[in-house]
Amino acid sequence: VVLVVDFGAQYAQLIARRVREARVYSEIVPSTMPVAEMLAKNPRAIILSGGPSSVYAEGAPSLDRSLFEAGVPVFGMCYGFQLMATTLGGTVDDNGAREYGRTPLHVTKAGSTLFEGTPTEQPVWMSHGDACSAAPEGFTVTASTDVVPVAAFENDEKKLYGVQYHPEVLHSTHGQQVLEHFLYRGAGIEPNWTTTNVVEEQIAAIREQVGDKRAICGLSGGVDSAVAAALVQKAIGSQLTCVYVDHGLMRKGETEQVEKDFVAATGAKLKVVDAEKRFLDALAGVSDPEQKRKIIGREFIRVFEQAQLEILQEDGPEVAFLVQGTLYPDVVESGGGTGTANIKSHHNVGGLPDDIEFQLVEPLRQLFKDEVRMVGQELGLPEEIVQRQPFPGPGLGIRIVGEVTKDRLDLLREADAIAREELTAAGLDRDIWQCPVVLLADVRSVGVQGDGRTYGHPIVLRPVSSEDAMTADWSRLPYETLAKISTRITNEVADVNRVVLDVTSKPPGTIEWE
Ligand code: XMP
Repeated sequence: VVLVVDFGAQYAQLIARRVREARVYSEIVPSTMPVAEMLAKNPRAIILSGGPSSVYAEGAPSLDRSLFEAGVPVFGMCYGFQLMATTLGGTVDDNGAREYGRTPLHVTKAGSTLFEGTPTEQPVWMSHGDACSAAPEGFTVTASTDVVPVAAFENDEKKLYGVQYHPEVLHSTHGQQVLEHFLYRGAGIEPNWTTTNVVEEQIAAIREQVGDKRAICGLSGGVDSAVAAALVQKAIGSQLTCVYVDHGLMRKGETEQVEKDFVAATGAKLKVVDAEKRFLDALAGVSDPEQKRKIIGREFIRVFEQAQLEILQEDGPEVAFLVQGTLYPDVVESGGGTGTANIKSHHNVGGLPDDIEFQLVEPLRQLFKDEVRMVGQELGLPEEIVQRQPFPGPGLGIRIVGEVTKDRLDLLREADAIAREELTAAGLDRDIWQCPVVLLADVRSVGVQGDGRTYGHPIVLRPVSSEDAMTADWSRLPYETLAKISTRITNEVADVNRVVLDVTSKPPGTIEWE
């Protein structure tokens, strides 16, 4: 493993991903972790990330010198670089040599471990106030910029390397190459971490964990739960039962995709609960978004627990495990636990016996989203499942502004299917994060179709681009695609006589309308 020490900037996750792109397994650890604990993980190399502080600021995170003396190769980036410099006796000062953004880097030592084979002039991404003016003893300066004399250094003998800039961002055009030089040349690591290894390792780990007991997994139709289930299925076969609650708020073809494609690809035992009537009854007369969400959440838990109870009562070994599609970013953000959490099922609502506790099986805890997709591919899941865009748990229920009824759902399903079809046909699926299609059920406008007046509902298209759904911008889709979607929806979907485009970023608008 390569450890990425997180100094509190948003860059650590990006670095960890870049290391994995170099086919080397990486994990993030907080900078507050004692050095002895880091070393106990037997890292092949350690990367120090950037951070928001000045190394001289009060309370700025520091590192014990022993980290640099353990014989483990270390690569410091930005703050990590300055920390390495000051800890080992170099000089960093606030001499006004600030650089932010794209900066030309001059490589001053050809053939250095990090810069071998890269141009002597290369654009890099800088973001620093303080600057290093003298490298520590035993280090060679390998690059500079117009304002910073020491922009990179290395001590090849001790396997210590550093750069002032951010090699992990794309604006540093040779950053990936430099990172790979550190990993392969500096640290001597073989690039052999692949999703095939992940699948094999996880299968072994799941078998070990579950033994001959049984496990259940809730499928939502989303990528994460599908891949987690497929992985567990591959490991323990019929000891796993998947539960899929069809709440009637799914998009066109979605339930069939789970019922047919998922089962065909995995051979998993699937229990589909048709709960459409139950959900629609519970939603009758409700227009308030928060109330809708609460009702859908509550009904979902009830139905899911009922299904669990039925599985528990089937003959067979103890049902001791619950499979979840937790991803690495969730793990890091919640403080990076080690996966021993036990959750108690919501026995208060659904009537499970009080003493039922499930242990979690979370085979995707080490992975980023794009890696989960690769694992899904590796496991033979169909493209439509693996490349699926995010879809909210409450489904189309929160994409109808107004009361949710079966007729309205059917109408929205048609409009949504057309939009998805045309976006796919135009090859735009990878350009957008997702495109909610919203029915303004409580709004009517006048139109003319054929020779007659119509008084129908508008459909809203909400295509957005985003990296993490926390912020988003509206996607600038080609007019031809928008025109085609609009024409088809108004022609093919009864009661819709207008299609409008949402051109609001997030913030201020959320991605979903409710
Ligand atoms: P908002 O509307 O908050 O959405 O900008 C951010 C992202 O989250 C999705 N979303 C949900 N996902 N359960 C989910 O699993 C929900 O209740 C839910 N609400 C919103 C939304 O589609 C977008 O990707």
